[in-house]
Amino acid sequence: MVARRAAEGDNVNPILVATGVNRSFGAVVAAADLNVAVAPESIVGLIGANGAGKTTFINMVTGYLKPSSGSIRCDGRELTALEPRRVTQLGVSRSFQIPQLFNTLSVRENLLVAVGIVAAAAHAWAHSDLSPGRAGTATDEMLERFGLGSYRDRPAGLLPEGVRKLLDVAMALVVKPRVLLLDEPTSGVSADEKFAIMDLVMGAARGVTVLFVEHDMDIVGRYARRVLAFADGRIIADGEPAAVLADAEVRRYVIGEDHA
Ligand SMILES: Nc1ncnc2c1ncn2[C@@H]1O[C@H](COP(=O)(O)OP(=O)(O)O)[C@@H](O)[C@H]1O
Ligand SMILES: [Mg+2]
Repeated sequence: MVARRAAEGDNVNPILVATGVNRSFGAVVAAADLNVAVAPESIVGLIGANGAGKTTFINMVTGYLKPSSGSIRCDGRELTALEPRRVTQLGVSRSFQIPQLFNTLSVRENLLVAVGIVAAAAHAWAHSDLSPGRAGTATDEMLERFGLGSYRDRPAGLLPEGVRKLLDVAMALVVKPRVLLLDEPTSGVSADEKFAIMDLVMGAARGVTVLFVEHDMDIVGRYARRVLAFADGRIIADGEPAAVLADAEVRRYVIGEDHA
């Protein structure tokens, strides 16, 4: 086990804290006593073979799945009892391994729906300055930034797969989150395009705490400042990318395995 870095993992004011988090599906242990503290503005890579528990972790942080036990807090506020929409309103958003879009709505309308979730609650308890009046502007800025302008009126169901992935990430970012979780943002994308997409996303996410699932270790090494390695629902290594990627257990369970 790679030693956790005091500067990041044990920061006195972490933005995201998971404590003793467990989750099973029948006999399958998808999360086994996960303990993670993430400092604000960290960029964290989540690695692990298929079935290691990466998506389960993201699902539990974002309200899509309840842990069997344990606590997940953002800025001290307990998230585990909340619905996904409430988690988003508190500033924690995510993208999906398989894009979750409203296929009959246009690209612009998909972004407006996402913004609406936060803008509708902005006066009550959302962190951001998004208001219903700002929703259109925020949407158009995101269309421009992600180069989606030429697709703006196209139904999401008719988009090429790569554009669907990008729109899904854009929907997670347009709500101006404090914590952004990206589940395999570059999967299904050619090796050449991966860096361009990550540059775009990381540029748009400046100042945001980002956790991203990635199988390509070149991408992990380039963008992550910290890496969490998952195997069989456990975190087997946590630290700086170079140290984690050199760890014997990680090489055996993560890098040595078929993780395509
Ligand atoms: N909804 C579910 N029902 C049953 N088993 C699940 C469910 N979600 C995940 N699992 C199981 O939990 C384990 C971890 O899955 P997952 O978190 O999707 O892994 P990863 O994202 O690292 O590939 C796997 O064994 C998977 O089959
Ligand atoms: Mg997954």
